[in-house]
Amino acid sequence: MEGQWSLTCVDAGSEYCPCHLAENGTCLACSLLSGEDFCDCRWSGSCSYLNYQFSQGVINKRSECTVLVNKKRLTPSLLDLRFRPKTSWLPKFAHAGTFLFLRPADAPYYAAVPISIVNITADEVWLVVNCIGPKSSLLMRTDSQVIIRGPYYGALTNSHVLKKTRDANVIMVAGGTGQSALVLAAKTLLRGGNRLWACLAPGSTDLIYVGQTLRKYGVEVNEVSSLRRYGAKIIMNQLTQLEPSLVICAGPEELQTTILTMLCSIGSKAEFVHTKNNVMCCGEGLCGSCLTNHFGQKRVPLCKAQYSFRGGN
Ligand code: FES
Repeated sequence: MEGQWSLTCVDAGSEYCPCHLAENGTCLACSLLSGEDFCDCRWSGSCSYLNYQFSQGVINKRSECTVLVNKKRLTPSLLDLRFRPKTSWLPKFAHAGTFLFLRPADAPYYAAVPISIVNITADEVWLVVNCIGPKSSLLMRTDSQVIIRGPYYGALTNSHVLKKTRDANVIMVAGGTGQSALVLAAKTLLRGGNRLWACLAPGSTDLIYVGQTLRKYGVEVNEVSSLRRYGAKIIMNQLTQLEPSLVICAGPEELQTTILTMLCSIGSKAEFVHTKNNVMCCGEGLCGSCLTNHFGQKRVPLCKAQYSFRGGN
């Protein structure tokens, strides 16, 4: 397929820029900081190169904090966690695609798992964990003290496009824990005057847990027991009728491929944003667990990358 990848850093221009990738010469946003002798950046609103010069080598690290969580078991493996936010967290934790690393207070740092923030209000931060792996299962067994690290912003492939989408139709599709990415995305899009339609399925979590919240904010929600069996036809109809400017798919890769194939089959020009399903351990572009050469160039850490594909003729 002709076309090219648009690739930048999710933290470019934020308070977490510059980061360790500027130090080690692998900055995703700035060609000067990645060893070139010319500027080739996609202007993010601030200059990563100047930020790095002015910071004099000081990197603004994400902080760790112990919080007291209210735990509720939603299904045998699904855990609902809520804790009170500090006032300073409200704007930082509210971006579409925000996630935190969580671990029990008595667990080592390498037990931390990345978990999307489902929603944040003045009273609570809400997360849902599917405790099916060795790390996430520790959260099921722990008492109420949990250490959080963050915020990280790279749960979606291109959250920047959500802020730019205005007065448009948007379709959101989610299954399993992908649902966790939809509420913050919906709130961002509703602020831009967009009209939102969502199709949700329980998937691997056996539960639809964001339907009510999305409806409360004004999203039209369609719940199905299986996206593959019942959702696909409904989604195809909506894609044809609504002609959305943006489609967000939050779920397994098989689902993302199905939705992308639908978009291609009707010649849709909609932006396609999806959740990243790769393993993440550090979130800082350093550990290598999420490295990919998917973009046809040097290996890129997906935890830091924001990307979209622009097709050619
Ligand atoms: S999670 Fe460590 S490099 Fe991406």
